[in-house]
Amino acid sequence: MFQDKQIVLGVSGGIAAYKAVDLASHLRQLGADVHCIMTDHAARLVSPVTFGEITGHEVAQAMFDHITRWDVGHISLARMADLFVIAPATADIIGKIASGIADDMLSTTVMATKAPVLVVPSMNTQMYENPFVQENMEKLRRAGYTVMEPDAGHLACNTEGKGRFPKTEDILEEAEKILTGRRLLKGKKILVSAGGTREKIDPVRYIGNRSSGRMGYAIARAAYMEDAEVVLVSCTRDLPEPRGVTVVYAEDARGLDAEMNRLYDGADGVIMAAAVSDYRPSVSSDRKIKKEDHSSLDIRLELNPDILRGLGARKSHQFLVGFAAETNDVIAHGKEKLERKNLDMLIANDVSQPGAGFNVSTNIASILYRGGKMEQFPIMSKDELGRIIAERVAEGIKKGSC
Ligand code: C5P
Repeated sequence: MFQDKQIVLGVSGGIAAYKAVDLASHLRQLGADVHCIMTDHAARLVSPVTFGEITGHEVAQAMFDHITRWDVGHISLARMADLFVIAPATADIIGKIASGIADDMLSTTVMATKAPVLVVPSMNTQMYENPFVQENMEKLRRAGYTVMEPDAGHLACNTEGKGRFPKTEDILEEAEKILTGRRLLKGKKILVSAGGTREKIDPVRYIGNRSSGRMGYAIARAAYMEDAEVVLVSCTRDLPEPRGVTVVYAEDARGLDAEMNRLYDGADGVIMAAAVSDYRPSVSSDRKIKKEDHSSLDIRLELNPDILRGLGARKSHQFLVGFAAETNDVIAHGKEKLERKNLDMLIANDVSQPGAGFNVSTNIASILYRGGKMEQFPIMSKDELGRIIAERVAEGIKKGSC
């Protein structure tokens, strides 16, 4: 993704300037050609020599250093950039950009660029919450800049609050999102379910399944990368929440049913990747069942609601996607399920094959569509399959809306 990309990294004078060294280093390790511009204040906090060594390029700082050279520094940097990242971005540089002020190398270059700009604010909480700073960030957003939310936590001024420089991996993810640049789901609301339900037997025991939730999480992340507004209803708490995605948790099939139905009407695309238990214990105990009290135990099961079928039955405008995990006659079962549940698309996989299905990081899938079309895919990572699914959902929503 970052290979051979020209990235201009503007470093302004926040105390988090030292963290931008790590960002520059990661970008270079990922293959990007990184050019740093530092403000004078930033250069007092971290030596330009550090950024020079890390990036392998001389750091631009003063406007007139290279006045004898034919190319004008700020214009050539502004032109060459595939992406412009300002990290950390102080209230000062944000205010300058928002007000059209260009009085140093960084503000002048960013004014001259046509590249997408990623702004990473980092400052004291009170400064961050200042209405003028907020208004300036809004101005940047309206002009098409991407302005990241800072993290909350311990700040250099020895207080707690919002304003921390985000983690390098989060900035890289945001940069990747901009560079990928397809925005196929911009303005669309995507609802995804993930993980395996847990049907309570007693407070410590449940009936579960082998689903890890990774497929659903990969789809949620891919939809976010395509600029969708994503809600993920998760039946697992074992995976880190994907950044930028709203996560709500459900425990069992009935809880998941309630959440999916609550969120369904507002969604444009719904992907039901959760492995829902078809049955639940007819009665569950509020106290731990003791082996001393029972020499044997019969657990009677009753049928859970078929959530997807219920969603299919009351579908209005949604593009509805289901999964079929099968061990035989995958395609035939898939086609039948697509019809029966009134779906627009179904991802079918043979979970008995190595590298497919539950609890592995890869999948082998076929995608079936309403109308009989089918695509078969080789083994691939769940992340990759997630991207394909997000792409197909975007196409489906588009077709449905025209
Ligand atoms: O009928 P089957 O369980 O094979 O269908 C699988 C699809 O239906 C998956 O998308 C799964 O999330 C969904 N499902 C459901 N409610 C159930 C069982 C499965 O929504 N009770």
